[in-house]
Amino acid sequence: MNRVLVVTGGGDCPGLNAVIRAIVKRAAREKNWEVVGSIEAFNGILREPTEIVVLDEKAVAGIHYQGGTIIQTTNKGGPFAWPVKQNDGTYIGVDRSDEMIRKIQYLGIDAVINIGGDGSQRISQALFEKGLNIIGVPKTIDNDLSATDATFGFQTAIQIATDAVDKLVTTAASHNRVQILEVMGRDAGWIALNAAVAGGAEICLLPEFPYDIEKVLEGVERRFDRDRGFVNIVIAEGARNIKGHQIIKESHEVGDAHIKLGGVGFRLEQELKDAGCRHSIRTTVLGHLQRGGVPIAYDRVLATQYGVKAFELVLAGEFGRMVSYRHPYITSVTLKEAIQKPNLVEPDTALMKTARGIGMCFGD
Ligand code: F6P
Repeated sequence: MNRVLVVTGGGDCPGLNAVIRAIVKRAAREKNWEVVGSIEAFNGILREPTEIVVLDEKAVAGIHYQGGTIIQTTNKGGPFAWPVKQNDGTYIGVDRSDEMIRKIQYLGIDAVINIGGDGSQRISQALFEKGLNIIGVPKTIDNDLSATDATFGFQTAIQIATDAVDKLVTTAASHNRVQILEVMGRDAGWIALNAAVAGGAEICLLPEFPYDIEKVLEGVERRFDRDRGFVNIVIAEGARNIKGHQIIKESHEVGDAHIKLGGVGFRLEQELKDAGCRHSIRTTVLGHLQRGGVPIAYDRVLATQYGVKAFELVLAGEFGRMVSYRHPYITSVTLKEAIQKPNLVEPDTALMKTARGIGMCFGD
């Protein structure tokens, strides 16, 4: 019996379950293949006792439209930075990758499919270099991977953010207000840009284009005739002002290596007030609502394509690769290529030109 291990790592994302289901259903069409899942990314393998579950067709029945991941996930710990408590109460990250690879072999696992974003695929590449048979599947609501045209979860996040803009437009108009909506995306402005265009926001502030508050204020005032008028602003959590400052939250969670963003919407509110804006301002932080719940049809379809392709790469023995969508093909790239360059909004990005074409203000 051959065995493939499925791992979901990093932040959760709508469509993860659809990938898992597709892997299991594709594997069921081959003789002698069993699929198992590690609970909470690689931590299920690293823990004693080991936490792995058998994923058969019964276990994955009907999960394609469920949010989250049935095998859970984490962005803490992992094989290269396992948190170990020191005598002074602090934690250091210990490299347990060799031990983990030995354990994977001991468990009779022939291949690993690691579903995750850039951080997870960096882990995949490092494990591949140590000899593990591993395949990556790109996952992120942020759309910040350049080696694929699309990642599942992104379109669902855009839809959720657009629904939020739609709702904020009606309340902004009713109250003659400035409504600020902060959305996720880390250092990439894709969710913000798409939601701003789809929702008809007048101002959009992105990490890639530092904003000048005076220009933002001009954009606000253009929408008001004295006290009458309203404006909707979509700001990405990673947005910077011209001083280059991002809003970074301190994390007190053990093993958390990631920089946490969030709260820039409130800073913008204060900056507008300090710059002389006298209109009523309200700020909404959309947060994890963008990652929860049911994936839209597009993401379920993409996730299913990725799951099938990932298992077929395992069958073909093409390890060290990440599944990728290059229209119209579902193909693959080396993991090395996959982690080389982030996908960020550029001045000549088609949607950026469209947004400027309809007069959207970027505060630059
Ligand atoms: O990468 C996905 C993402 O949702 C980012 O958009 C966001 O900055 C981050 O994860 C939040 O991470 P956490 O789940 O640790 O709060």
